[in-house]
Amino acid sequence: MQEIMTRLEQVDNLNDLERLRVEVLGKKGILTQQFALLKNLEGETKKTFAKGLNTNKEDFEKMLESKRESLLKAQMNENLAKEVVDASLFTALHPKSNGHPIYQTMDRIIDFFVNMNFSIQTGPLVEDDFHNFEALNLPVFHPARDMQDTFYFKDSMLLRTHTSPVQIRTMQSQDIPIRMIAPGSVFRRDYDLTHSPMFHQVEGLVVEQKDKISFVHLKYILEDFLHYMFGDVKIRFRSSFFPFTEPSAEVDISCVFCGGSGCRICSHTGWLEVLGCGIVNQKVFDAVGYKDVSGYAFGLGVERFAMLIHRVNDLRSFFETDLRVLEQF
Ligand code: PHE
Repeated sequence: MQEIMTRLEQVDNLNDLERLRVEVLGKKGILTQQFALLKNLEGETKKTFAKGLNTNKEDFEKMLESKRESLLKAQMNENLAKEVVDASLFTALHPKSNGHPIYQTMDRIIDFFVNMNFSIQTGPLVEDDFHNFEALNLPVFHPARDMQDTFYFKDSMLLRTHTSPVQIRTMQSQDIPIRMIAPGSVFRRDYDLTHSPMFHQVEGLVVEQKDKISFVHLKYILEDFLHYMFGDVKIRFRSSFFPFTEPSAEVDISCVFCGGSGCRICSHTGWLEVLGCGIVNQKVFDAVGYKDVSGYAFGLGVERFAMLIHRVNDLRSFFETDLRVLEQF
């Protein structure tokens, strides 16, 4: 046994360790064979012999385990040393990455509203009819549903066509006062110079007690926001229609390309439409069971903002992952 323990001591790799284990404890192992001899013994002799064998076995196993641990550790250190990564080499070979222009723009929008004490809310991309349409005063046969070409699944689920369902989800799960934005991707069946089937919106919703919120609050914050995003532009509110707001407005800024004098991009009007907004329709509050409240909401397309900020005229270049394009932002 002494000899075995000495050999164990000297083992310097995991393969030899396993070989020695089999040699001692395997089916035909030295100790296994000695255990087999027990059946030929009797009485005190058998007891003493068995005790000795058990002690030997325990000693061997204990040492085997600690040996295995130290060999594993040594092997890991060796691997770590071999696999060292030269971080400076990586930077030298690969271009430095920037945030994607869409997300840079989104972050800038979020920054403004977070500074204005808005919380950030999210909702599922696969929505049900109730949250995406019905609770927003777009009942099943309402013609306004045509405004949004929807990707439907078989079971009346759909890819959300705007971030407005997050308004509904937030009101269902929280009480007033509500002061939230909901940034995220939305989906419509559209694809051309200025439309892509997946794009991003930022929704805003503020709800307080009855009569506390008026159009003035909405106008004030959106003017402040648009100056923050576009600098010194003129802003106008144009009466419009959304089923979930009443009254509703679309907001235009003076054209960032021609300064308002009229060009191809603003269709010679001098104005560019940048967002939709309004005072929350009472029917929306009814759908979520809110009583005696007032609020405003707005929604904007992040891609449109990014295009105007960076003077890009084909939206698709944002999604083509061409580094030569993306590097410019
Ligand atoms: N959900 C509207 C859209 O996608 C935008 C909007 C949001 C308008 C909130 C008014 C209020 O076009």
